[in-house]
Amino acid sequence: PRKIIIDTDPGQDDAAAIMLALGSPAEIEVLGITAVAGNVPLALTSRNARLVCELCNRRDVKVFAGAEKPIARPLVTAEHVHGKTGLDGPQLDEPTMPLQSQHAVDFIIETLLSEPSGTVTLCTLGALTNIALALQKAPEIAPRVRELVMMGGGFFEGGNITPAAEFNIYVDPEAADIVLKSGIPVVMMPLDVTHRVLTHKARVRRISDIGTPAAIAMAQMLEFFERFDIEKYGTDGGPLHDPTVIAYLIRPELFTGRDCNVEIETKSELTLGMTVVDWWQVTGRKHNAKVMRFIDDQGFFDLLTERLARL
Ligand code: BDR
Ligand code: CA
Repeated sequence: PRKIIIDTDPGQDDAAAIMLALGSPAEIEVLGITAVAGNVPLALTSRNARLVCELCNRRDVKVFAGAEKPIARPLVTAEHVHGKTGLDGPQLDEPTMPLQSQHAVDFIIETLLSEPSGTVTLCTLGALTNIALALQKAPEIAPRVRELVMMGGGFFEGGNITPAAEFNIYVDPEAADIVLKSGIPVVMMPLDVTHRVLTHKARVRRISDIGTPAAIAMAQMLEFFERFDIEKYGTDGGPLHDPTVIAYLIRPELFTGRDCNVEIETKSELTLGMTVVDWWQVTGRKHNAKVMRFIDDQGFFDLLTERLARL
């Protein structure tokens, strides 16, 4: 199986991504989960990551707390989408599994230095703060990363927190800039992809019909999560952003995209956090990311449902 670190700010869609990974042990080995502030503050994201592991009966997974705030800005959160806890929907008790005492940034560095070079994949589902801090502290880790697959950005689709910016990049644009300039092979799942995977009613019902505690809790999370988009935009469901990252590791053929140059806007007030994707190759700038644009959405939901049933 492919060794991964999941860096995350759960978040119902982050929870779906973690469950997809833990339900796919033949393809994926989760070395650890590192929490970052984002959808809600760090105390909640590090709690929620453990709650998800417990729902999957995986109290053995190591969960680390990382950065409390972005590198150069105050934290922006998204309770309007994810609810007060970040994981609103099901009734869940407080987690009892421990949080690791090591800082997430040190865990990321130590793992990349101790595992054979080119074997560890970073999966980022939130702001890139932890990864950027690790790169600043230990630049020698960059060439050792096999690949970094991120949920972040948007180009033809525009933004979801401002007209120009997607939430994960907007929260910490300086961190995203550091990651995209690091030389790490990046795969980007932008809103252009994730807005195509909507939690239609029938899809959520298939998940709750699995009948296990993890699947029932997931269905309840999705029912809470999707109300924001359904009420505001009149869509058929909520966009299931973060699990696309994990789905890509298991079934890359579900996605199509191309190698591009991507730059992050870190200065402009109007377009802060914008991912400037050179899709049409109009600059001579070096390719630094594989940017995905299309997804087989039914194939994605079939995979997610199948793997949730294995938990
Ligand atoms: C991203 O922002 C968060 O709210 C979601 O969990 C996802 O990672 C989508 O813009
Ligand atoms: Ca997230």
